[in-house]
Amino acid sequence: MPTKIEKDSITGRETTGHEWDGIKELNTPLPKWWLWVFYATIAFSVLWMILYPALPIPGATGLTGWTARGALPAQLEAARAAQAPILSRIAELEPEAIAADPQLRAVAMAGGRAAFATNCAGCHGAGGEGRPGGYPALGDDHWIWGGSFEAIRFTIRHGIRNQEDAEARIGAPMQAYLTTGQLSRAQIQDLVQHILSYTGRATDRAGAERGAALYAEQCASCHGERGEGNRDLGAPPLNTRIFVYGGDAATLFASIAYGRAGVMPPWAGRLDAATINMLTVYVHALGGGERE
Ligand code: HEC
Ligand code: HEC
Repeated sequence: MPTKIEKDSITGRETTGHEWDGIKELNTPLPKWWLWVFYATIAFSVLWMILYPALPIPGATGLTGWTARGALPAQLEAARAAQAPILSRIAELEPEAIAADPQLRAVAMAGGRAAFATNCAGCHGAGGEGRPGGYPALGDDHWIWGGSFEAIRFTIRHGIRNQEDAEARIGAPMQAYLTTGQLSRAQIQDLVQHILSYTGRATDRAGAERGAALYAEQCASCHGERGEGNRDLGAPPLNTRIFVYGGDAATLFASIAYGRAGVMPPWAGRLDAATINMLTVYVHALGGGERE
């Protein structure tokens, strides 16, 4: 305990009683205002701990009973109420009109992106880039069934070749030409060469020519005279390098030999009208949206 507290003759203040080699320390207390603010913060923190959930004990709530989790439903409710008018407009309008209105379009793009991640990305890829084995890319302008707002919405609503929706897109069947015995292996090889020749990739010219004759007889009715495809029948174009199942010789052979029947589920019963419209605007904007 310092005992030699005395008055400093120069400043007139008291010393702390400490002295080192003749040097004495002045007692300079903290300003009163500072101390009171400090005590106030301590009082505030104690009060806060009593009123609000501050202790790391599961289920501890404090006297007010308030918790962040408990407040969430009301906040969500408020957010939903704020969104309701805009969502009901999105549900009523045609996707084309939504896309033309900057404010509605912004909401539809954000909502469409979220709904796509939840419902569609598993098959079509996170960014709609498609997946090998029959899940088409949605961001290019290569469409099987159509890329207009109306065509996209119809596909989403009713799906493709599923059993659940009576209006599902059915088109015409791509048969298994080898399994059913309609074509021989050699004939299918020729057809593959013919399809490859559309994009300058044929390796067997004579085969490609024989294939052209077969194609005109057997395939043109669905896939078009020059492989341009037919959307009413759901027959994809064969004259580009973009394929649903694959454009290499082996995969083309498999498509023709064993047939194809891609299935997509319908969404009309699972997603509400606003969500389907938002998805339509989003998919249309991925890159390949068509005006008509
Ligand atoms: C279970 C897998 C699966 C899911 C989930 C799925 N799709 Fe598909 N979708 C497919 C398949 C397979 C096709 C191609 C069918 C065919 O061969 O014609 C397709 C085709 C499409 C097409 C037509 C493409 C074209 O070229 O005409 C659109 C548009 C589409 N899907 C959108 C969606 C959207 C939007 C969702 C989410 C709401 C979704 N799909 C969810 C499997 C799926
Ligand atoms: C009755 C209509 C019809 C006829 C005839 C037909 N196709 Fe198809 N073809 C389709 C349909 C529909 C699909 C798409 C199936 C799917 O998406 O699951 C398809 C898919 C294909 C594919 C896969 C395309 C891709 O993008 O991966 C190839 C290759 C193909 N057909 C070749 C042929 C050849 C060669 C012939 C003639 C021997 C032929 N098709 C005859 C309807 C037809």
